[in-house]
Amino acid sequence: MSRLRAGCVGTGFIAGRHLDALATFPDVDVVAVADPVVERARDVASRNGATAYADGLALLETEQLDAVWLCVPPAAHGPLEDAALERGLPFFVEKPLAVDLPTAVRIAGAVRAKNLLTCVGYHWRSVSLVEQAKQLVADDPVHVMTGTWWDSTPRAPWWSRRDGSGGQLLEQTTHLFDLARVLVGEVASVQALETRTPRAEFPEADVPTASAVLLRFRSGAVGTMTSSCLLDRRHLVDLRLVLQGRTLDLRERALSDHELRTETAAGERSWRSTEDPVAREDRAFVDALLGQPARVPVSYDEALRTQALVCAADRSAREDGRVIDVDGELAGALGG
Ligand SMILES: NC(=O)c1ccc[n+]([C@@H]2O[C@H](COP(=O)([O-])OP(=O)(O)OC[C@H]3O[C@@H](n4cnc5c(N)ncnc54)[C@H](O)[C@@H]3O)[C@@H](O)[C@H]2O)c1
Repeated sequence: MSRLRAGCVGTGFIAGRHLDALATFPDVDVVAVADPVVERARDVASRNGATAYADGLALLETEQLDAVWLCVPPAAHGPLEDAALERGLPFFVEKPLAVDLPTAVRIAGAVRAKNLLTCVGYHWRSVSLVEQAKQLVADDPVHVMTGTWWDSTPRAPWWSRRDGSGGQLLEQTTHLFDLARVLVGEVASVQALETRTPRAEFPEADVPTASAVLLRFRSGAVGTMTSSCLLDRRHLVDLRLVLQGRTLDLRERALSDHELRTETAAGERSWRSTEDPVAREDRAFVDALLGQPARVPVSYDEALRTQALVCAADRSAREDGRVIDVDGELAGALGG
C-alpha cells in the first residue's frame, strides 16, 4: 500500500487540526467525514473533497477505508471503535478513550485480540521537548512533581456535563497525567478532592470546577495535580519536576506552543517549540500504516494505563478522598 484512504468521524475543533495535517500529506486521501451537525460535515467535506455523512456508523458501513480518525466527544466512544474493529480497520482516536474505564478496557481487549494498529491523541508525546525532558530524567530521577491545569470552561455544550466529557480531569488534565507517567513513571495510588461552584453562565453544568490530586509513584516519588476551569482564559498548563539539584518545567501555551525550562545552581536554560505535535503524531501513524519503520507514539493499550490512572483519581474525588490503588482500579475493570 502506498496511498491511504482515510475517513474522519467528528468534524469539530480537533478534527480540523488532523484534517489540516492530513491535507499536507501526499500519500493520504481523506475520502469521507461524518458529523451529526450536517452543515458542519458538509462544509468540512467540501473543503477536503470528501463525502459527508450525518452518521459515523453509516460512514464506516459504506466506505472502503484504510484508516479512520475518531474525533468525537468523550461520551461518543464505544460504537465507533466497535464498528472499526468489526471491519479490522485501524483507527486514530482522540483522548480520552471514554468517559469511564470499562468501555476503554473492553475496546483495548478487542484491539489486542485483532492486533489492530491504533494511535491515541496524547499529542504531548509528539512534542520533541518531551523527548528532551525524558533524556534529562533518565539518569536523574524525579523526586516530586506538581501539575497544573488552570483554564477557562470550554463552550462546547458536552464539556460541562460529566456524562458528556467525564469532567476536567478526564478531558484536559489527562494530558498531564499521561506526561507524568512518561517522565516520573507509573503511579501506585491516588487520592483526590473536588469542588463545584455553580455558575449562571453554565446552568446545565455538573462538572467539578476545581480539584486536587495527590499521587504516589511506584518509584517512591510523590506529586500533586490541581485543575480548575473557573478562569476566563488559559492561565497555566504545566508540569514541574524536582530532580537532584535541578528543576524542570514543561509548559503548554497552545497546541503548537511548548516550553521546557531547567534551573540549576549554574543558572536557567529554556527552549521553545512551535512545531505541530498533531501533524507529527498523524505522520507517525500514517507511516506505520504504510509499513514504513515508525513507532506509533501512543497505542490504545498504552493510553489505557493513563485512562485507568485518571479514572482512579476521578473515583477518589467522587468518594471524598478515598485512596485508590491504580492497578486495582484496572484489575477491577478487567474483571468486571
Ligand atoms: N489532543 C488534544 O490536545 C485535543 C484538543 C482538543 C480536543 N481533543 C479531544 O477531541 C475530542 C473532540 O473535541 P473537540 O474539541 O474537537 O470538540 P468539538 O465539540 O469541537 O467537536 C466534536 C464534534 O463531534 C461531533 N459529534 C458528536 N457526537 C458524534 C458522533 N457520535 N459521531 C460523529 N460526530 C459526533 C460534534 O457534533 C462536533 O462537531 C474530545 O475528546 C477532546 O478531548 C483533544
